Amino acid sequence: MIDHMNSTQAMELEEKYGAHNYHPLPVVLSKGEGVYVWDVEGKRYYDFLSAYSAVNQGHCHPKIVQALKDQADKLTLTSRAFFNDVLGEYCQYMTSYFGYDKVLPMNTGVEGGETAVKLCRKWGYEKKGISENQAKIIFVNGNFWGRTLSAISTSDDPHSYEGFGPYMPGFDRIPYNDLAALEKALEDPNVAGFMVEPIQGEAGVVVPDEGYLNKAYALCNKRNVLFIADEVQTGIARTGKLIACEHENVRPDILILGKALSGGVFPVSAVLADDEIMLCIKPGEHGSTFGGNPLACKVAMAALDVVRDENLAERAEELGKTLRAELEGIDSDMITLVRGKGLLNAIVIKEKNGKNAWDVCVALKENGLLAKPTHGDIIRFAPPLVITEEQLFECCDIIRKTIESFS
Ligand SMILES: Cc1ncc(COP(=O)(O)O)c(C=O)c1O
Repeated sequence: MIDHMNSTQAMELEEKYGAHNYHPLPVVLSKGEGVYVWDVEGKRYYDFLSAYSAVNQGHCHPKIVQALKDQADKLTLTSRAFFNDVLGEYCQYMTSYFGYDKVLPMNTGVEGGETAVKLCRKWGYEKKGISENQAKIIFVNGNFWGRTLSAISTSDDPHSYEGFGPYMPGFDRIPYNDLAALEKALEDPNVAGFMVEPIQGEAGVVVPDEGYLNKAYALCNKRNVLFIADEVQTGIARTGKLIACEHENVRPDILILGKALSGGVFPVSAVLADDEIMLCIKPGEHGSTFGGNPLACKVAMAALDVVRDENLAERAEELGKTLRAELEGIDSDMITLVRGKGLLNAIVIKEKNGKNAWDVCVALKENGLLAKPTHGDIIRFAPPLVITEEQLFECCDIIRKTIESFS
């Protein structure tokens, strides 16, 4: 093993021995604390991606890491073949924290999505009376919920689905933010569910019109269709509320959480629903070796304690307003749009003198701030929610100076 590796060596190793399924920014990180990360040469950066909103509580939050260490010494995994002495406490904690009857623990976000889809189909057959194998779930254009075959079968992004067919049947897609299209799609009696992100993260922080979620929920409710909220990215305080659906007083029938549920320590996801829905899945019909492991349970409880104790939702709400006001104040025709909610934000970049969003991100990196472009022209700004106002102003300064340097 190489003891002290420089950035070039680390990147070369990944390139040579790792699959080429990502295109990272050229920075090699070796340490994180709060809003900061450091590269192997010791340079410090503000993290404005937060591991796609998994690190809402900040890097290596001491309380979360302590919970990990304490439990790691006792018991890490039993599988669900046996009970463990933490899962019950975790289930009680989670259901009271989010206000549902039951929780089903999984690991990654996409497994949470798969679980929700299976649960919804089962409910469709058992409770709604849909004929065998006829259940449909409605998705929207621009959705992103991971990389499994089901997830890409719902995608309209060729990068996600092309070359990986055949695709999973039983999924329909309509435009996002389009209530008339939803109303029409719901006329089909075989529709069991509508799965949606309250704000589309990977699509580039696309915020629907005010009232969309609330009205979409009402339409689903009228048609006895389950409203499934994919809050893997928007949940856990990111948008200024505990879950983004709260902005419109919507309580999803099925709620999917992941990412920041562990504060970015390792994959922990969860699906929440009431008994009428959740008890449709019986023993042996779904599961995961690692889902509900005691280490994950302790880490997730610590991560959610931090969200509450440090008022992260309120912080995100307030600081988000500051961030958007500062970004809107940048005098550059390179920024054509600023959008977002809480601390989930994005700017849309217009190419200038042959320089695009990727070049802006490389320049931001040089100036000490890490962000990643998406879809070629969008840069997401989503710092850890523990960022202070002073730090945020410093970051806005970095962003302003960087953008202005392209003028
Ligand atoms: C909204 C949403 N759902 C699901 C996922 C999938 O999560 P994971 O990568 O942990 O499987 C993501 C990942 O970016 C996401 O943004």
